[in-house]
Amino acid sequence: MIVSEKEIPKIVEHLKSQGLAALPTETVYGLAGNALKEESILSIFKLKNRPKFDPLIVHIKDVSELNKYAIQPIPKAASLLTQKYWPGPLTIVLPKTALIPDVVTSGLPFCAFRMPQHPLFQKILRQLDFPLAAPSANPFGYVSPTNAKHVAMNLDVPFILDGGPAKHGLESTIIGFVEKGKALLLRHGSIPHEEIDKLVPGLLDETSSKKSPQSPGQLDKHYATRKKLYLIEDLKSFKIKETDGLICFGHVPHKGKNVFNLSANGDFIEAGKNLFSMLHLLDNHSGINQIFALKLPNIGLGKAINDRLERAEKN
Ligand code: TXA
Ligand code: MG
Repeated sequence: MIVSEKEIPKIVEHLKSQGLAALPTETVYGLAGNALKEESILSIFKLKNRPKFDPLIVHIKDVSELNKYAIQPIPKAASLLTQKYWPGPLTIVLPKTALIPDVVTSGLPFCAFRMPQHPLFQKILRQLDFPLAAPSANPFGYVSPTNAKHVAMNLDVPFILDGGPAKHGLESTIIGFVEKGKALLLRHGSIPHEEIDKLVPGLLDETSSKKSPQSPGQLDKHYATRKKLYLIEDLKSFKIKETDGLICFGHVPHKGKNVFNLSANGDFIEAGKNLFSMLHLLDNHSGINQIFALKLPNIGLGKAINDRLERAEKN
């Protein structure tokens, strides 16, 4: 059920008794539960139908919580990143202490941490004495939700807190500190990798590496619409039909009623914000049978958006 801020006291009580709630974050909506209790974690995996080998991100209320949950000292580059981007759409992976149950990290000795910026998520965290594990609030493999309705259409959760449309609309950027002296880019996300590069020289892009366990969640098939999606470079070899949906960016190469522009001005931030809601819209559009998406320039957030579309296409 979709509820408003007024219901936060009930949500807090529900979370305290190992229940789950879908909460807004500035990236996408998350399916939250007590990160320190195996029972809530197992319910998250079950509700999402998520394989147990795909670990969860732990959301903390303050950077000082890392003192409890991450092994000290924290690498200097990690501290630089948290100073600049927390609260916000950055996740860092660090060696974990025993307080974080192994089910959260799928047995890995490392845990992914993030301090979210959304005021309602923060308000809830401040009323709890435990952090919240929260994967995106979608059935495993499906498109991530960027508003409360997206969650309600696809998951049966007792509380879905409406916090408006997500500000960024793409998941957090993940940086791993899992090998001594190295910073690894594990997922392209809301913060363009070029920005992180400036702060952390020598950042290694591991996003297309098949190596386990650094990026267990970078599964090929992901973010997939139920309808077939094709990611294409241009329209030259395609004849778009009335019943095809077309996603473009900036320039509109084809006129038709089912053409959707991620950003008429060619603005990556706007495109990131619109991507998942457009995929939801096209997937539920009765006049569309299949979806074509034109590849974005592979720079800045364009990389994160192309990454989502490439994985959607593999389904
Ligand atoms: O923006 C976000 O990060 C959103 C919001 C709700 O915070 N959360 C999110 O969670 O995207 P999820 O579960 O949909 O994606 C988390 C990714 C997965 O690819 C997972 O494999 C990876 O993070 N991950 C989690 N823990 C990890 C770990 N210990 N080591 C490496 N990768 C990890
Ligand atoms: Mg997800």
